[in-house]
Amino acid sequence: MPLVIAIDGPAASGKGTLAKRLADHYGLPHLDTGLLYRAVAMALLDAGLSLEDAAAAAQAAQALDAGKLDDPRLRDRAMGEAASRVSSVPEVRAGLLTWQRRFAADPQGAVLDGRDIGTVVCPGASVKLFITASSEERARRRHRELVGRGESATFATILADIEARDARDASRSAAPLRMADDAIRLDTTELDADAAFAEARGIVEQSRGDAD
Ligand code: C5P
Repeated sequence: MPLVIAIDGPAASGKGTLAKRLADHYGLPHLDTGLLYRAVAMALLDAGLSLEDAAAAAQAAQALDAGKLDDPRLRDRAMGEAASRVSSVPEVRAGLLTWQRRFAADPQGAVLDGRDIGTVVCPGASVKLFITASSEERARRRHRELVGRGESATFATILADIEARDARDASRSAAPLRMADDAIRLDTTELDADAAFAEARGIVEQSRGDAD
């Protein structure tokens, strides 16, 4: 059975770093699904279209160019906000779902991280992790990351952003951020990246052992 690891959690919970490390460790392809939503938002903004234009957003999702997911602008703070807006459009989610499922069906297995991987994209994943951390700790991490990339933003602005994004992601009607019933919660508030990786690897090993 291919190993499919589904990782969900709120903004800046550390799920991206963890997903990358697990993917490297197990030699699996990794998809940061937030980038897909960011790319849809960027396509609209670049075309001068409104983020509220649901038809244009759905079209941008259909036309998504996977070759452009390494554009550094996708990581900007504003793009995260914009992504959170377009991600509530059901047609956008449907368009990106096919794409994500194809990725997850790789015969080798895969690691995907996002908000609805364990609940919607890969409900049959071998292991599901739900990564959390306090909003203050997540804001601290995101602040450090953005300042490191040369973006100027205050801690208070980032904390407010994170709390607004959590509320929007959790309350939308299409695939809201929710922990799958069979996911394992990992709170990384007190864990650094190495400790989070060690815990997560233990969980993956345990589920693989249980599956044998
Ligand atoms: O994880 P990241 O910050 O890149 O995600 C940006 C936004 O994309 C999230 O706030 C969320 O609204 C949306 N998203 C989603 N479903 C996913 C991944 C991201 O709705 N699987």
